[in-house]
Amino acid sequence: MKYLVTGGAGFIGSNFIRFIFGKYRDAQIVNLDKLTYAGNLANLKDLENHPNYKFIKGDITDPKLMDELVSACDIVVNFAAETHVDRSILGPAEFVQTNIVGTHVLLDAVKKHDKRIHHISTDEVFGSLKLNDNARFNETTPYDPSSPYSASKASSDHLVRAYVRTFRVKATISNCSNNYGPYQFIEKLIPIIILHAVEDKKIPVYGKGENVRDWIQVEDHCHAIDLIISKGKIGETYLVGGNAEESNINIVKMILKQMGKPESLIEFVTDRKGHDLRYAIDSEKIEKELGFSRKYDLATGLKETVDWYLANQGWVEALRNKDYQKYYEQQYKR
Ligand code: NAD
Ligand code: TYD
Repeated sequence: MKYLVTGGAGFIGSNFIRFIFGKYRDAQIVNLDKLTYAGNLANLKDLENHPNYKFIKGDITDPKLMDELVSACDIVVNFAAETHVDRSILGPAEFVQTNIVGTHVLLDAVKKHDKRIHHISTDEVFGSLKLNDNARFNETTPYDPSSPYSASKASSDHLVRAYVRTFRVKATISNCSNNYGPYQFIEKLIPIIILHAVEDKKIPVYGKGENVRDWIQVEDHCHAIDLIISKGKIGETYLVGGNAEESNINIVKMILKQMGKPESLIEFVTDRKGHDLRYAIDSEKIEKELGFSRKYDLATGLKETVDWYLANQGWVEALRNKDYQKYYEQQYKR
């Protein structure tokens, strides 16, 4: 199969490319990525000379380039996005451009060339669940996004569905919970905890740290995407969760304990605006219909992630550039 992976130099996209080459010897992959602050070719260093792999620097909002690349593939797997909620609060414009306009450009090319697209989305489109409650998101939950990030992802999902209904475009969507694992950009919660703890720096926990996320190891997410591509029903949406709900404060404590660091490193800071309280996913549909199961439990996944970051300090250092410093100052030193 010829894959056009967009955003393949990011966290999940690079893990997906490695997963596909590990599973399918004859897969052909074109990785199209704009290389924003979050795109990093070092994530794929081990694969850059793979005979069936090609990297192209470009933007999913470029209709001419997307037309050309989509015409040459069998399936588009769309990871390309602006992804960090806090950055979307500081400046939403890029989120609208890439996540909404970019998805539209891809859909037009997919429609024109009668190809298939799998669109990667997030559980954040459903908004917030109550704390201390058993309710979980499923495929019938109404959309109710809170942040500019989740609103832009919600818009992209709606466009995909509209193209399925109106033009019979061959599309599937997955909405996944919070991923963690190797190659996650250093601005997200779990890398922040590990990288601050290793330097005995204070760990910024928003609000009271009571917000709950459903954590999934990135390889399990990649496995789910591969299942949807190979066995999923066209036009359908699949929710993918980690079955591992945990409050932020507990995640911090688990990692500190594993690293042998004191809880006195925890610092409660000003809460995120519009901070969703809780996400939780009911993954019954993908488990029952496609036979999805996970390889990782949270404790094992976190342990391996901590070990990975500690063993890859060079990869981390290269990301601490001017853009990151500027963002960090804006986000944490207000
Ligand atoms: P990431 O920020 O690590 O990577 C995004 C990649 O997209 C980067 O390589 C970036 O350079 C590229 N990109 C951005 N704008 C582009 C453009 N206009 N054209 C081409 N490439 C562009 O993000 P991630 O965590 O790997 O997320 C990938 C996808 O998965 C996103 O669509 C995100 O919404 C979704 N998702 C993420 C999570 C999570 O926990 N990280 C959970 C559910 C869904
Ligand atoms: P994040 O990794 O940004 O993922 P998302 O916002 O997509 O869920 O954040 C995960 C949780 O951790 C979220 O509830 C916000 C919180 N958080 C902190 O408490 N401190 C931080 O420095 C960051 C980045 C996040």
